[in-house]
Amino acid sequence: MTVRPRRSVLYMPGANARALEKAKTLPADALILDLEDAVAPDAKAQARAQVTDAVKAGGYGPRELVIRVNGLDTPWGGDDLKAAVAAGPDAILIPKAASGDDIARASAAMRQAGAGEQMQLWAMIETPIAILKAGEIAAAARHAGSRLAVLVLGLNDLVKETGAVLDGERTAALYWLSAALTAARAYGLTILDGVYNNFRDMDGYDKECRQGRMLGFDGKTLIHPDQIALANEVFSPPAAEVEFARKIIAAFDQPENKGKGVINLEGRMVELLHAEIARKTVAIADAIAARS
Ligand code: COA
Ligand code: MG
Repeated sequence: MTVRPRRSVLYMPGANARALEKAKTLPADALILDLEDAVAPDAKAQARAQVTDAVKAGGYGPRELVIRVNGLDTPWGGDDLKAAVAAGPDAILIPKAASGDDIARASAAMRQAGAGEQMQLWAMIETPIAILKAGEIAAAARHAGSRLAVLVLGLNDLVKETGAVLDGERTAALYWLSAALTAARAYGLTILDGVYNNFRDMDGYDKECRQGRMLGFDGKTLIHPDQIALANEVFSPPAAEVEFARKIIAAFDQPENKGKGVINLEGRMVELLHAEIARKTVAIADAIAARS
């Protein structure tokens, strides 16, 4: 399986031609071209045409391209999905996933629309029901024909639905974040932290970015170009960690350590499970290096 860095994942409104163009020059790992919340009802059709034209025309280099469609039960969702699949992005993102059935339904709709095998499904976790059913939603990735690869936290919607007020530590959101993260990891999915709305407040953003990394997220969804550089830094494995990971792998490859479950490496206990983590760290570091 190919490892894809998803440290910085930038949303942009599908109706914003300037943003779609500018994104070709920005160092984000992935772009979410939005047809849903960031597009007003009157602009839906124009945004759909503009986004699908942009994806077909290309020019986005190594950036992973994701189209967020409207919900399949809205007046726009069905047409969005068909047009989005036909444009050939890397993935389709569905909003407000509420059950394993939603994942099956979206995967089936993608297949019916002619999506190639490699086109993935991403799902927003942004409602109370999605938190309660996070395990069921993530487990749907294991079902035959499922394309689910990435879960994306939508904290603005969760705040709206719950009445929570977030402080600087995101105290009220910690349960949502950990529940979704645990579900993603149980089924081998990538998971992305929510957005930081106040894009001029770099100190607050820095703190939140690092908190997401500490909680275990693979990357952060972003709303503004100024947020990209920090997410790339925070969600890259530190150089010292990569160096030690290479040492761990090399150590377990030594003939004298063959068959051992635990070794002493520079005064630290290193187990086979650490070799597994080390291989992931090196794979992601190599994938990041291949980008720049
Ligand atoms: N993607 C690509 N380019 C973006 C961008 C984005 N999300 N947000 C801003 N830019 C560009 C602007 O077009 C501008 O480019 P230019 O100077 O070359 O013309 C530059 O970055 C600076 O933008 P700035 O003036 O600081 O902000 P703004 O007032 O243009 O935009 C927002 C502010 C919040 C409206 C805008 O950042 C945005 O729409 N973000 C995404 C919102 C979204 O998609 N939400 C849905 C999911 S939560
Ligand atoms: Mg939303």
